[in-house]
Amino acid sequence: MNAELQLIDAQTAVQVRGLNVVYETTQGDIPAVQNVNLDIRKGQITGIIGESGSGKSTLVMAMMNAVAKPGRVASGSIEVSGVGDMMKLSTEQQRRARSTELGLVFQAAQNSLNPLRRIGHQVLDLGRSHGVKDLRALLRKAKDLLERLGLDADRVLTAYQHELSGGMRQRVGIMFALVLDAKVVILDEATTALDMLSQASVLQIVRELHEERGLTTILITHDMGVVGDLADRVVVMYAGCIVEEGVTQEVLTSPKHPYTRGLIRAIPRISGDIDKAVPLSGSPPDMNTYKQPGCLFADRCPLAAPECQQSRPPLLEVETGRHVACFRVNDHA
Ligand SMILES: Nc1ncnc2c1ncn2[C@@H]1O[C@H](COP(=O)(O)OP(=O)(O)OP(=O)(O)O)[C@@H](O)[C@H]1O
Ligand SMILES: [Mg+2]
Repeated sequence: MNAELQLIDAQTAVQVRGLNVVYETTQGDIPAVQNVNLDIRKGQITGIIGESGSGKSTLVMAMMNAVAKPGRVASGSIEVSGVGDMMKLSTEQQRRARSTELGLVFQAAQNSLNPLRRIGHQVLDLGRSHGVKDLRALLRKAKDLLERLGLDADRVLTAYQHELSGGMRQRVGIMFALVLDAKVVILDEATTALDMLSQASVLQIVRELHEERGLTTILITHDMGVVGDLADRVVVMYAGCIVEEGVTQEVLTSPKHPYTRGLIRAIPRISGDIDKAVPLSGSPPDMNTYKQPGCLFADRCPLAAPECQQSRPPLLEVETGRHVACFRVNDHA
């Protein structure tokens, strides 16, 4: 057994340490993920939330060591249970780990299929590229999953991408993430092309598959309601940093970071009363935000004090299993 595997405890599926990812642009480097430390627990559903541009997709792409240019992982380690540090594996080992250990449904899954190959052929291509011996069994598995997800599997497997609706392609994306029996499944906005009812039913199926297969699931969504319904734990990101992390019900009922509170207040489905929804004030982070030495949320924060402008608050465990990055964490109940 690889000695490095011992670094990660038996309850952890993915352990992220000191992760920094930057995008090199003509305006300068964007630190899209900053000093992220995170343990994804086995068998749980972890929700990742945060405004657009907060680094959610970049974080999960980095977990697969698949950040695309002009992005690069500047530092950090990604220990995957049973695999080792994704940053240190050979290209071939990484390729194998993706799909068989970590299955990702890209944010743009509905556009990531090969337009020139029938879906069934793409299942076979995936199987061949991962050395699957019994391709018939793989097709059967794809068919079962598609039916489970409410699709006419025979039709979908013989179809080209353009013959499917956006919602159908998203379900096909979920099938691809699961068909090689990945243990960790990452869904990046995987149901946004679906109407509310279909979204609810697909998420219900995702939850069933998660339980039946004993999966570890990471769910990125803008929908706090989805997080509340499905996720065991929730990670809140702001400007590339994790600002709060903990058990979903605790975070949603007593958010400790002012940003989490603002997010929750902004969403009527959670606050319960559409008239009481209060949009987050200020504008989302830009290049100048990242350059600030202090808390990146300080310029939008109702509690900001002088110390908040001076240094970056570290993510600390404030209660068992609850992490918050805020100097004013004790200044409110
Ligand atoms: N290819 C790229 N080139 C330059 N900057 C990028 C690129 N991809 C992402 N970024 C920047 O990195 C930051 C994080 O982006 P990311 O896509 O990870 O956010 P996100 O939380 O997934 O947002 P969304 O909710 O809109 O999907 C943003 O500031 C974004 O502008
Ligand atoms: Mg994204």
